[in-house]
Amino acid sequence: MALSEFLTELDALAAQAKTAFDAARDAASLEAARVEFLGARSGRLKTVQKGLGQVDKTDKPAAGKRFNEVKQAIEAAFEAAEQRQTSATVASTVAVCSDPTVPGVRMRLGRLHPITQTIEELKEIMGRLGFSVAEGPEVEDSWHNFEALNIPPEHPARDPLENFYLAPGLLLRSQTSTVQIRVMEKTKPPVRIISCGRVYRPDTADATHYPMFHQIEGLLIDRGVTMADLKSMLRLFARSAFADDVHIRFRPSFFPFTEPSVEVDMSWQGGWMEMGGAGMVDPNVLRAVGYDPEEYTGFAFGLGIERICARRHGITDIRELFKNDVRFLHQF
Ligand code: DAH
Repeated sequence: MALSEFLTELDALAAQAKTAFDAARDAASLEAARVEFLGARSGRLKTVQKGLGQVDKTDKPAAGKRFNEVKQAIEAAFEAAEQRQTSATVASTVAVCSDPTVPGVRMRLGRLHPITQTIEELKEIMGRLGFSVAEGPEVEDSWHNFEALNIPPEHPARDPLENFYLAPGLLLRSQTSTVQIRVMEKTKPPVRIISCGRVYRPDTADATHYPMFHQIEGLLIDRGVTMADLKSMLRLFARSAFADDVHIRFRPSFFPFTEPSVEVDMSWQGGWMEMGGAGMVDPNVLRAVGYDPEEYTGFAFGLGIERICARRHGITDIRELFKNDVRFLHQF
């Protein structure tokens, strides 16, 4: 066979193979084309290879070289077609799975819980009045929760039915007043702190009670502090937290850690609402932490954060705050 004839045959084969591979629509037809051209036994390339034997001896090296080139080209064309097909399959699968007409899933932006928002604002307000933020543990010993606060062992507030005891002398704190003691034990007067956090009492949950709630505690100790300072500070606080037309009222009360003690009521756009307790720090408390009550006096207060939050937002049932229902929480 003449060299030119062999080469023509080779070129024709290469062109046909490429056309066949390109035309193959699916894996089965591509495989059929592969067998037709590259099949190890009776593929057409194999058949042409047999013609190599009939090429004139002098032309054989050139014919063989050209044969190898064409073989590589056909194999490359097959691989390219195979690659194209895989990508097409992936693309069509993606296309099937992502229907652009399906309504999207709305991304919901998270936000701080209304209680957290309230705490942040209260800290801000008190920060402007010169109070820094202190923290204390939620698992407390009876010294910080009771004794140091002038609550003796026989006091009804220490009853197991009124507290979540974890072990003798260890409980979930029932008030943030514990932080007063923790701060005074560590610092010398003057003291001017607030502390916000969870407290626990075995109350039955209803619209205004929950076995876990939040308090903001304040403590100011210095020379010559009076009840007038307490009242003006609380009024400033209430006006900042609500509005200028808020009124503050003190009612005589009793707390073991303050003397005198008062209940703090607030009135805003309507009736009076109880916010918490306050008073002048009892000399026994000052003595318990090593302060000299002859030299220092101070005031303390403890307010319910749920109440403040509920009043500000018009929430009528504080249980809603703890259901974790985003439809409710999303409103604030
Ligand atoms: N600890 C009190 C309570 O949980 C609230 C309270 C009253 C805190 C008077 C005070 C205070 O600091 O002076 O009922």
